[in-house]
Parts: sequence; C-alpha cells; structure tokens
Amino acid sequence: MSLQGLRGTAPGRDGTEDGHLPVMVGEAVAALSPVPGSLQIDATVGGGGHAERILEASTPDGRLVGLDADRAAIARARQRLARFGDRVVLRQANFGEMGEVAPAAGFTEVDGVLFDLGLSSDQLADPTRGFSFRSDAPLDMRFDPSLGTPAHELLGGLPADELAAIFRRYGEEPFAGRIARAIVAQRSDPRTVTGTGLAALVERVIPRGPRRRIHPATRVFQALRIAVNRELESLERGLAGALALLRPGGRLVVISYHSLEDRIVKRFFAAERRGCTCPPELPVCVCGRRPRLHLVGRQPQRPTPEEIHRNPRSRSARLRAAERSAA
Ligand SMILES: C[S@@+](CC[C@H](N)C(=O)[O-])C[C@H]1O[C@@H](n2cnc3c(N)ncnc32)[C@H](O)[C@@H]1O
Repeated sequence: MSLQGLRGTAPGRDGTEDGHLPVMVGEAVAALSPVPGSLQIDATVGGGGHAERILEASTPDGRLVGLDADRAAIARARQRLARFGDRVVLRQANFGEMGEVAPAAGFTEVDGVLFDLGLSSDQLADPTRGFSFRSDAPLDMRFDPSLGTPAHELLGGLPADELAAIFRRYGEEPFAGRIARAIVAQRSDPRTVTGTGLAALVERVIPRGPRRRIHPATRVFQALRIAVNRELESLERGLAGALALLRPGGRLVVISYHSLEDRIVKRFFAAERRGCTCPPELPVCVCGRRPRLHLVGRQPQRPTPEEIHRNPRSRSARLRAAERSAA
C-alpha cells in the first residue's frame, strides 16, 4: 500500500479547523458533466461542497440526491444546499443501500454518481466523534454513531491476533503483531483506547524510522476506521448499486484516498469494461456478458500541485471516471 492514506487521520500542518474543502471538485464536475435537467447522486454528500458545484452546473432544473451515513453531515449539507430548494433530496443512508434509497427518493435512472470516499475534515475536527490522533476521548470512528461497534470496543475486547489481522489487512502495518500485543497488555488503562493514548502507544512500540513524513500511527488508525465502518464491503456494494442505476451514457466518478479503496475501484472498472468472463481458451464467448463501462479520461487523475498546496489533505486523492455503455 502507498503511504498515502493519511488524509483523515493525521493531524498536522493542514489542521482541522477550517471546515472541509472539497477535493478535485473541478475535475469531478467535469467528469460527471451535469447538464440542466439531469439527475445525479452524491453518494457521500458530506458538507455539500461537491453537491453545490454539481447543482450550480445543472441550473436551472438538474436534481441531486445526497446520501451520507452521518446525520451531522446531512444537517450541514442541508444548510449549505438550502438555496436549491426541491432540486435537492438528502437522506441519511449508507451508500451500500443506494439501490433501494435512491429509487425510493424518485431517482430510478440517473445521469451521474459521485463517491468522494473516506471522512471529512468536519468529522476529524469533532472530538466527540473520536477519529483523531489528538482526541482524548475514547476512539469511536463510526460514520453513523448509531450503528456498529465503536473502535474503543474493538481495541478493548478483541484478542491480539484479531487486532493484528485488522492492522495488517486494512493498514498493511508491518508491526501489526507487536502493536496488537502492546494494546492487549495495556488496555486495562482506559487511556489506551483514546486517540492520544493509542497514538502514543504506537509511537513507543514501533522502531523509529529515519525521516518520517507521516505519524507512525497512521496505518493503525486507518485500519481501525475501515474495520469499524466495513468500508471496503460498503464500497463494493455501492459501486454495484451505482452501476445498476446509471442510464447508458451516465457517468460514475470515484475519488479515493488510499490504495485499498483505489484497488477496488480499479478492479471494478476493469471487470465491467471487459464484460466477457469466459476463459481465454474458449474460441467464442458463452457467458454473454457485455461491457457495461468504458473509461473516461486519464486514469487515475491526481490533484494539481496548486490544490495540494492549498489543501494538503488532497495529496493522496485519486479520481477515476467511467461511463455506462449503451445497453
Ligand atoms: C470526504 S467526505 C465527503 C465530502 C463532500 N464531498 C463535500 O464536498 O463536502 C466523505 C463522506 O462520506 C461519508 N461516508 C463514508 N462512507 C460512507 C458510506 N458507506 N455511506 C454513506 N456515507 C459514507 C462520510 O460520513 C463523509 O461525510
């Protein structure tokens, strides 16, 4: 894995106080190409930064349904997007359920779907949500705080081998076993399962590298967040749901922030672009599967140096775009 899954967990010079700046917004809107009258889904509406630009580009009557697992994000988006009136519908939902939620809101065949994965600066900055290295509160990390198991319960309850498997699988952390054993040995101290406590423990336990560009606990925090929210499973379901809702010519655009997400997107696009799944030794296709996507533009696109300078959290972003092929 690249060491780029940093946005979202690392504190630092990019700070968390300025509100969320939408990433690669110009590139995302260009790839979606929303026009008046079009129907769009923003699968991760967050504070509404991308949605706002999509709605502006589809003035006067393009419509958008915005989903987010986080109720607080939906409230922020509602405020920001209020001027668009009934052109916007917002639903608190996991994008894995897009296939049911969007049609129930009247979006049965759409012109574009955007995923801007991960977490927002607003979530990171809120100490009660327990996402950050800097929080003294127990780590929570749930996008929807009413569902699932918070990170501090995993840290406090799982045996060392299961914790190590999480750090290895979702963080590709080379010292997974050592870190997991240290957590289990020290977890009777409630500080161990706080943001600051866990970050300090990891720092103590793993060897110091020569020059580090990222906090040593970055991989562990990323892994926990992915496990808590079952992020990779949701992404797979969300991509399939999005493709099923796209009309021919509709666009699917995904911005990801670490290589595990990006790999899923890349493989999904590759499989849907290929269509036929017959073994190569068969002289003719017997599966009958036809390509359902073709790629749009350079893959992947990266943020410009100017954007990375203005918004360092964009540095790990990769945007991939595809178009639904004719039926
Ligand atoms: C990077 S932020 C999106 C920011 C947004 N594009 C903006 O411009 O303000 C990602 C958002 O996706 C949400 N999210 C992550 N996984 C989700 C899922 N499986 N279903 C729904 N929302 C999800 C998070 O709660 C977060 O608000």
